[in-house]
Amino acid sequence: MTPIDQRLSVAPMLDCTDRHARYLLRLLTRHTVLYTEMVVAQALIHGDRQRFMAHHGDEHPLVLQLGGSDPAQLATAARIGEEFGYDQVNLNVGCPSERVKAGRFGAALMAEPAYVGELYSAMQAAVKVEVTIKCRIGIDDLDSWDHFLGFVESVAAAGCKTFIIHARKAWLKGLSPKQNRTLPPLNYEFVHRLKREHPELKIIINGGIESVADVDELLSDLDGVMIGRAAYHNPWMLLKADRQIYADDHTLPTRMQVLEQYMSYMRLQLEQGVPLRPMARHLIGFYQGSPGAKNWRRCIADEVGRSGGLARLGEAIQIIEQQVA
Ligand SMILES: Cc1cc2nc3c(=O)[nH]c(=O)nc-3n(C[C@H](O)[C@H](O)[C@H](O)COP(=O)(O)O)c2cc1C
Repeated sequence: MTPIDQRLSVAPMLDCTDRHARYLLRLLTRHTVLYTEMVVAQALIHGDRQRFMAHHGDEHPLVLQLGGSDPAQLATAARIGEEFGYDQVNLNVGCPSERVKAGRFGAALMAEPAYVGELYSAMQAAVKVEVTIKCRIGIDDLDSWDHFLGFVESVAAAGCKTFIIHARKAWLKGLSPKQNRTLPPLNYEFVHRLKREHPELKIIINGGIESVADVDELLSDLDGVMIGRAAYHNPWMLLKADRQIYADDHTLPTRMQVLEQYMSYMRLQLEQGVPLRPMARHLIGFYQGSPGAKNWRRCIADEVGRSGGLARLGEAIQIIEQQVA
């Protein structure tokens, strides 16, 4: 098992971190770890594996995130992920979706530490790559430090060494999945305290981190930082990561160079029958904060999916680049 350097990662996000988005992000940073969207183990086993698993060779380091609650299914799904070349497999113990209310899935598993240990063991026994856990700090009324510590210790006793912690609890009674990403307050102290009490574990913090500039400080006592929404809504921020975090000072591309490469990628994908809109939509935040960003967003959202969209995108790039210059 070769551990991957996880000092910075972009969070798994349904409807966001698909293979096209990951390809785009990889053009901005060589080292930041990328995650798939959550793939439900059962769907992977019984569904179209190519559709769920396909990715470009340039996307590595790349982690497959699985959701599920059946140890045998999760083990099989992890094995499929390994066969497809993923560098690591992660189990989702933080998702607050509707499905969770039926129990034993995503964040609901925070209430069952011993069972999560069993899920972890089944998955890790099935693969050579490392299996990690992404969890919350609590769920509903199970939000004490003791419960959180007990959860992590129980899963660690099963052998898990790496925990990615979204530093807010999930409140399943009455909050939507979206509200569950903002309303329960962040509690970074639980994450720092966990690392102090268990320095032997790799602890990665997630939740509300807005910029790569904030990462260094967090890395002074933690093993990694995971950024979700901020990186998706403003991918250009990741350009700083290779230098600042990984001390790799390769020549950085310009926005134009990144877009040219992404356009070439999209052209090849179009030839293979992939529609333009699901690829181009990831560019919406590409000029976040620049003059002309509003027109750019409107153009991507309204015009690029239509016929001749790639040419229209080329024109939009010329226009905004003149405004930015
Ligand atoms: C649109 C969206 C989809 C998400 N999908 C997933 C998912 O598939 N798996 C997961 O573990 N977390 C998912 N999350 C949660 C993120 O991984 C992350 O934990 C959360 O957004 C907090 O990080 P942030 O404040 O940096 O965005 C999702 C978040 C968003 C906004």
